Amino acid sequence: MYVIAVASQKGGVGKTTISLNLGLALARAGHRALILELDAQGSLGLSLGLADRARPGVAELLTGAERLEAVLLRTRDPQLQVLTVGRVDPTTVSGFEEALARGPVLPSVIARLAPDFELVVMDCPAGLGKVTTRALEIATHVLLPLQAEPLALRSVGQMLALIDRVRAEKNPRLSVLGMVLSMFDRQASASLEVAETLWTKFPDGIILDTVVPRDEAFLEASLRGAPLLLMQKRPPPLARIFDQLANDVLVRLEPASAEDDDDPIPLLV
Ligand SMILES: Nc1ncnc2c1ncn2[C@@H]1O[C@H](COP(=O)(O)OP(=O)(O)OP(=O)(O)O)[C@@H](O)[C@H]1O
Ligand SMILES: [Mg+2]
Repeated sequence: MYVIAVASQKGGVGKTTISLNLGLALARAGHRALILELDAQGSLGLSLGLADRARPGVAELLTGAERLEAVLLRTRDPQLQVLTVGRVDPTTVSGFEEALARGPVLPSVIARLAPDFELVVMDCPAGLGKVTTRALEIATHVLLPLQAEPLALRSVGQMLALIDRVRAEKNPRLSVLGMVLSMFDRQASASLEVAETLWTKFPDGIILDTVVPRDEAFLEASLRGAPLLLMQKRPPPLARIFDQLANDVLVRLEPASAEDDDDPIPLLV
């Protein structure tokens, strides 16, 4: 089972949006996928239209109040399940994070999911804190959403340093799946400049071909609590981006077995 941490030093760069839509797209591509929310903010559950803090999830696993089978949520797609963060009292976030980061629950949940899922996509909180660090310790891969803006260049270096440390100390098999440019604005010269710098600075293909554009439809989707791919009104062509991203990810996970005959054309920027 591949365990992909979606992480970024900066907040609000599209981690949750990418985790959700990538998870959906991986399931659509025929893979048994689980989206696992590790962020106490609970944005993933909200994006799915689940009532705020109403459902048990990771928090209840940490306290032992619920069993894993009871907190896994089925979705319309039989290939996709979701495990949300659960009820985290805003005043006890640090206790929740401590339990998540130090205790044996997270690795044991991952071990128990392994027979039933091919892929787990973990939506991490923003920053290089203990939850992100823990996620990197148990992940097989990390995907780094990056907003194409000047500050991103600085923050990505800090994230790469953390990844190096985790590799050296706890998880030598952790590999960087790639960076995905998110909220890309074709009209903004700063976006283009940053993209160019990234492409030159990281020449070895670390930047994925798929670029997620800035688009109002994402805001609409989160307002309505409906992931983009499930929105009836306007799923294509934007939703297609995530099929392409899923393909990029699958090719990198399994270079040998991925079909290479019908790769979509990378979106040109
Ligand atoms: N490509 C995009 N175009 C326009 N808006 C977007 C895009 N991606 C995400 N958004 C919007 O930007 C906001 C932040 O996105 P999201 O929650 O995915 O980021 P995040 O990195 O998970 O944030 P946090 O660090 O707080 O967890 C949301 O309102 C979301 O709907
Ligand atoms: Mg988020």
